Amino acid sequence: MQRRALIAGNSADSRETVNGVLARFGFSQTEQAADRDAAIAAMHDGHFDLVILPVEGITPNQLVALEREIRKQSNTSVIATAPAADADLIVRAMRAGVHEFLIFPPKAEELAGSVERLMRRSRSKTKLGELIAVYSGKGGLGSTSIAVNVAQAFGAHRSDARVALLDLVVTGGDVRVFLNLKPAYDLSHLIAKGSQIDAELLNSLLTPCPGGVWALPTGDSPEDAELFDSAAVEAILNLLRTHFSVTVVDCDHHLSEATLTALDAAGRIVLVTQLSVPALRSTQRSLAVCRRLGYDDSKLCVVVNRYQSGDVLPVKDAEDLLQTSVFWKLPNDYRLSAASLTKGIPVALEDPGSKLARSYAELAMKLAGPGAATGSFASAKDGQGGRLRKLFGTDKRTKE
Ligand SMILES: Nc1ncnc2c1ncn2[C@@H]1O[C@H](COP(=O)(O)OP(=O)(O)OP(=O)(O)O)[C@@H](O)[C@H]1O
Ligand SMILES: [Mg+2]
Repeated sequence: MQRRALIAGNSADSRETVNGVLARFGFSQTEQAADRDAAIAAMHDGHFDLVILPVEGITPNQLVALEREIRKQSNTSVIATAPAADADLIVRAMRAGVHEFLIFPPKAEELAGSVERLMRRSRSKTKLGELIAVYSGKGGLGSTSIAVNVAQAFGAHRSDARVALLDLVVTGGDVRVFLNLKPAYDLSHLIAKGSQIDAELLNSLLTPCPGGVWALPTGDSPEDAELFDSAAVEAILNLLRTHFSVTVVDCDHHLSEATLTALDAAGRIVLVTQLSVPALRSTQRSLAVCRRLGYDDSKLCVVVNRYQSGDVLPVKDAEDLLQTSVFWKLPNDYRLSAASLTKGIPVALEDPGSKLARSYAELAMKLAGPGAATGSFASAKDGQGGRLRKLFGTDKRTKE
């Protein structure tokens, strides 16, 4: 979803600050109008999701014209600015339909707060974005590769999609390595806030990545894992789904509260496996857990990674063992996987024509297609600790 903003001269301070804030909310185009009149005229001629304009000294005629445009475009949000918070002026602006008022020049965080409130208002009419969890009980099978490259494919092939990539491998996740990110912030900055995390904070912590994806990588401190409970994960997932049309989660192999929360909420779970006995045995266990959790089969998408025609184990045998069909097969291409990992870019940017890049894109399209179950959070009454205990006896940290 690409949003358009219109900024009238003298309504906001430096263009970079404003553009920086707006970019975080998916505004791809910010247009400038010379003054208030020009802004009202531009509103008449085209649709903007957000308009920022100065109201000091606004004439009754201009107010009437502004009110008319705001009434006509119910999904345009308007922020008024003025150098002082004059009560009379604010009341007149609000009566004309202006949604927010800010003292000029607005500080970046105040502007972000207003935009966030306004976008939430327009979003409450829209549905939550899709959530895709990538999981394997065993390490090294390709979970992070799939999360990163499927997210990239969503961003590249669906022009309407804003895509988030969340690293839920709470300690030392690899998303930052795969995308060569040097994030100013990571998940650990959110942890301290617990369930208090708001969208404004979340937005400021996301890192734009090559390929048009917004990532939330993890930090490096082992103690984060303990603090990262299901309430915090649930809050983050909800915020991401409110802001992004697609959210892809790289889950921990460990079946932690964080992992379970993401699996519950996901519309689709990519269960990563390979055609080897240890990988398939692990996937068999994961499937059993998912079924015990009551997930619909349509939500469970077994993806065979590193598939090659000479594999000793045929796909048919794997399907018999898992008692489910294989959703997708990704070809083996170690050279390309290693090269893109070394450079810190998605496979499709390293070699767009490759079989592997095409296969990631096709997998993304299939995941977005019909049949996805609607994920939901586990019932609060059951409590995550309780659910884990039911699944595994008393040991909460049992490995899958
Ligand atoms: N389709 C593929 N073809 C060849 N190699 C691949 C493919 N996908 C992933 N790999 C390689 O497999 C290795 C493991 O991949 P990745 O890190 O994505 O797995 P993981 O399950 O996230 O592992 P970890 O347990 O470390 O989190 C990497 O070296 C990666 O380059
Ligand atoms: Mg990984």
